[in-house]
Amino acid sequence: MSKLVHAQWSSKMTFVLAAAGSAVGLGNIWRFSYMVGDNGGAAFVLVYLACVAVVGLPVLVAEWLIGRRGQKNPINAMSELAHKRGQTKAWALVGVSGVLAAFLILSFYSVIGGWSLSYTLNSVTGAFTGQDADGVGAIFSGLLSSPGLLLMWHTAFMALVIWIVAQGVTKGLEGAVRTMMPALVVLMLMLVLVGYGMTTGHFGEALAFMFRPDWSALTGGVVLAAMGQAFFTLSLGMGIMMAYGSYLGEDVKLLGTARTVIILDTGIALLAGLAIFPIVFANGLSAGEGPGLIFVTLPLAFGNMTGGMILGLMFFLLLTFAALTSAISLLEPVVEFVEERTPLTRVVATVAGGVAVWALGIAALMSFNVWDVPILFGLNVFDLLDTFTSKFLLPLTGLGAIVFVAWVLDRKSVASELNLAGGTEQLWSVVARYIAPLGMLVVFINSLLG
Ligand code: PHE
Ligand code: NA
Repeated sequence: MSKLVHAQWSSKMTFVLAAAGSAVGLGNIWRFSYMVGDNGGAAFVLVYLACVAVVGLPVLVAEWLIGRRGQKNPINAMSELAHKRGQTKAWALVGVSGVLAAFLILSFYSVIGGWSLSYTLNSVTGAFTGQDADGVGAIFSGLLSSPGLLLMWHTAFMALVIWIVAQGVTKGLEGAVRTMMPALVVLMLMLVLVGYGMTTGHFGEALAFMFRPDWSALTGGVVLAAMGQAFFTLSLGMGIMMAYGSYLGEDVKLLGTARTVIILDTGIALLAGLAIFPIVFANGLSAGEGPGLIFVTLPLAFGNMTGGMILGLMFFLLLTFAALTSAISLLEPVVEFVEERTPLTRVVATVAGGVAVWALGIAALMSFNVWDVPILFGLNVFDLLDTFTSKFLLPLTGLGAIVFVAWVLDRKSVASELNLAGGTEQLWSVVARYIAPLGMLVVFINSLLG
């Protein structure tokens, strides 16, 4: 981006939409619900909420602040800011690991984006109408068991992402964000689905599953998964929010904006859970179904409610849009990285980066059929990409960002940039200096021991 004139977001609203467009995506609906199911429900949810508040919020603010100060791409921003303060340029490593994380995440994200595209088509053809759990399960396993189909949808999704990102930051990103910011509509559709969940007679069970914790289910692994989900869902630890911050005007209030984005993101995730788990219990499905959870539950709702065909079509179309706006934000740092280090033009850099991501995605999609074998730590390629990025790379990079803002930048100027004074400033600095970083370290150590 530094090759372009460093323009600012055309308005505050555009910035909120861009940040929310990156944040709201498959992570809220697909990943949140399957993580809740896999990790035993309420204990996970409550720890996740705590992580969002105590770690997610400060890291989000820290990333925006670094970006706005540095006015550069994340890697240069970190190393220059550090250099100015007499610190080593090794801080740039935080930026590099962010780019790597974005690359790895997009490879499997695009596979799931492809599932969503395929389900959009299924809704058009009425494939879900009147289906029971077995019928819906058969549709999903039909998709999973075919590498050819998965490849086709993954390719279609990635092609859309490459096409949008190739148009450049202002045209591609802002344009796409404006016309495709689907979060609010997704939110409304989630409300409809929650309403359907109430008619199943299993809503109370779902509520209890999500909010009445069985603390005995809480292990180090569950806490790490919850923290990873908080980073994933808020698009943290990748330099993405830093890059967005570099376009941010001085007048935008960071804390208030972060709160808006977080409430929206968290609200959609919780509603998704309240929509999905009643269907799970009503149909005797397993909450720990794994990555397929929304694809074997939601079609049951759409297939059996009035107007379900239209609603299902809207839902999967919007889910695809939401996935696209997130995917755009994932490809962007990869493209910038290539653009700044090679003589390639933006379009060529986008195609090169995008094709590399696409190729890795092929290994990820084969994990659901022909290559479902453990390659490392007992995990297949898909699970390895997902686990390694969300549980380690993102939190570690985010830790770097918060430590940098809290300990390397000067405390007074950070306080004035965040509009903090007195008690709030004290609270911020205790959280940012001690609670968030130490909390994260405890989570890491605990899960290594556990
Ligand atoms: N936050 C996005 C989601 O919840 C995923 C994402 C992760 C996007 C990291 C950008 C960076 O779907
Ligand atoms: Na999200």
